[in-house]
Amino acid sequence: MSGKATLFTAFLLLAFFACTSKKEAEEKAKKSPTASELAIPQPEVHGTEIKSVELTNPLKAEWVSTGKSIYETKCLACHKLTDERVVGPGWAGVTKKRQPVWIMNMITNVDMMLETDAEAQKMLEECLVRMPNQNVSEEDARKILEFMRFNDGEK
Ligand code: HEC
Repeated sequence: MSGKATLFTAFLLLAFFACTSKKEAEEKAKKSPTASELAIPQPEVHGTEIKSVELTNPLKAEWVSTGKSIYETKCLACHKLTDERVVGPGWAGVTKKRQPVWIMNMITNVDMMLETDAEAQKMLEECLVRMPNQNVSEEDARKILEFMRFNDGEK
């Protein structure tokens, strides 16, 4: 093969591959890929705002104790059970001054609350620290609420 012919074949090959890969790219672009296909880690979203909470009467002892252990691992560093503020406000009396739904959303949808809720924003101004999303499920948040009610002297 002469030098020219080799060059020509190489050119043809190149053109061929360039063309198919362009086609592939167009195909891919057509069906918009899902998040998992793109493999971009998505921040966990705690989806929807909690709209209602059913209160138990009397308290469920089992929830109180699970709530307490979640408190100890995920909340204790910033929240005391007295009215003393550490990083965040102490929890004493919190269930008397806040609606159960408000508390539940503060636990599961803290970013939403800090963006939209005037009371949450006021606290942020006082505390100067944004409460981080602790990735607590609605179920677990409910148990923490039970523990808070227990802490506020409910039976
Ligand atoms: C890194 C510190 C930190 C951790 C951990 C933390 N919080 Fe908070 N929390 C705050 C701060 C600070 C505020 C006040 C609002 C703000 O500044 O963002 C707050 C506010 C609150 C409030 C509102 C209190 C009130 O008086 O109205 C509740 C309820 C709450 N947190 C629950 C929780 C729960 C439940 C956990 C654990 C699952 C938790 N927090 C973990 C820092 C924290």
